[in-house]
Amino acid sequence: MDEAKLHAFMGKLVSDMGAAGLLANVMVGDELGLYKAMADSQPITPEVLASRTGCNARLLREWLSAHVASGYMEHHDGQFVLPEEQALALAIEDSPVYAAGGVMVVVSMFHDKDKLVAAMRGDGALAWGDHHPCMFSGTERFFRPGYKAYLVDQWLPALDGVVDKLKAGARVADIGCGHGASTIVMAQAFPASNFVGFDYHAPSIVTASQRAAEAGVSDRVRFVEGRAKDFPGQDYDLICYFDCLHDMGDPVGAAKHAHQALKNDGTILLVEPFANDTLDLNINPVGRLFYAASTFICTPNSLSQEVGLGLGAQAGEARLRQVFTDAGFSHFRRACETPFNLILEARK
Ligand SMILES: C[S@@+](CC[C@H](N)C(=O)[O-])C[C@H]1O[C@@H](n2cnc3c(N)ncnc32)[C@H](O)[C@@H]1O
Repeated sequence: MDEAKLHAFMGKLVSDMGAAGLLANVMVGDELGLYKAMADSQPITPEVLASRTGCNARLLREWLSAHVASGYMEHHDGQFVLPEEQALALAIEDSPVYAAGGVMVVVSMFHDKDKLVAAMRGDGALAWGDHHPCMFSGTERFFRPGYKAYLVDQWLPALDGVVDKLKAGARVADIGCGHGASTIVMAQAFPASNFVGFDYHAPSIVTASQRAAEAGVSDRVRFVEGRAKDFPGQDYDLICYFDCLHDMGDPVGAAKHAHQALKNDGTILLVEPFANDTLDLNINPVGRLFYAASTFICTPNSLSQEVGLGLGAQAGEARLRQVFTDAGFSHFRRACETPFNLILEARK
């Protein structure tokens, strides 16, 4: 036994336990609007925060202190500050680094622990729709800021000729659309085009339709319950998968269906979690987060469907290329990337 290694690991473990404990506090702060009440980054006492939010001052003092001990807040002379940078991540939903939604996804894993234990002991299946509801809204809130920041300005322009088609008026399908954040961002940017979002999770389709109505784009955006392997429609100019292909049981079957539904000169936009091609190359903070989520969410969802390929969230470009090659596509390339996403293009 190497005592130095033991000490180093215990330090890491205590730090991770602190992080997990703090995330439960982040969830509380998010739900109660505490970060939003501190988003101006002005010093505040627990008592003033209590009067602003209607919460208990003594508990708030403890909650604030937990944030200081974690480096999420600062304190001076009995006052607490949510620094501007932390406010961007925790309070300001439109900021490109807003991450509170991601915390909700992590919290959902704790809620769903018993279901994962059962899946581990059984056939490995845990369907998307069987998760705690905070996973659905958390996913929407985690991904939407990235779509707003990058989809129209960087990802679509990185595809061959797609922006010109969208400007002129294109037919677009967004498969596995969830709450429709990506579909609506595209619809707002390209008023001449028509969009349909498909997802096999019926409650997500209801929410997505509400979002489209709130955004005032219902005339050009429809959300329809449907599966990746047999959604209706033909002659799409663009078929998109945002962070969902690896969740599917039969991604090759899904890509084959897209192949026949796409126009001959059409494009597949595949947005997947950022990953390198091997575990050794994914040992970094992003890989750590995505493998953990993939164990609870992506892989058991795939195992709950036919074929059950179980790509996992860290499949990597080479494995994804194989899926599209097997489905009959002859072009496949990395169009661009962000720290969290690979943006891939497939064509017939
Ligand atoms: C991680 S979520 C991503 C949702 C959305 N694309 C987004 O970016 O917010 C994965 C989505 O894929 C959907 N999904 C999984 N398997 C599917 C299938 N076989 N057919 C259609 N949708 C599927 C799930 O219901 C879920 O909404």
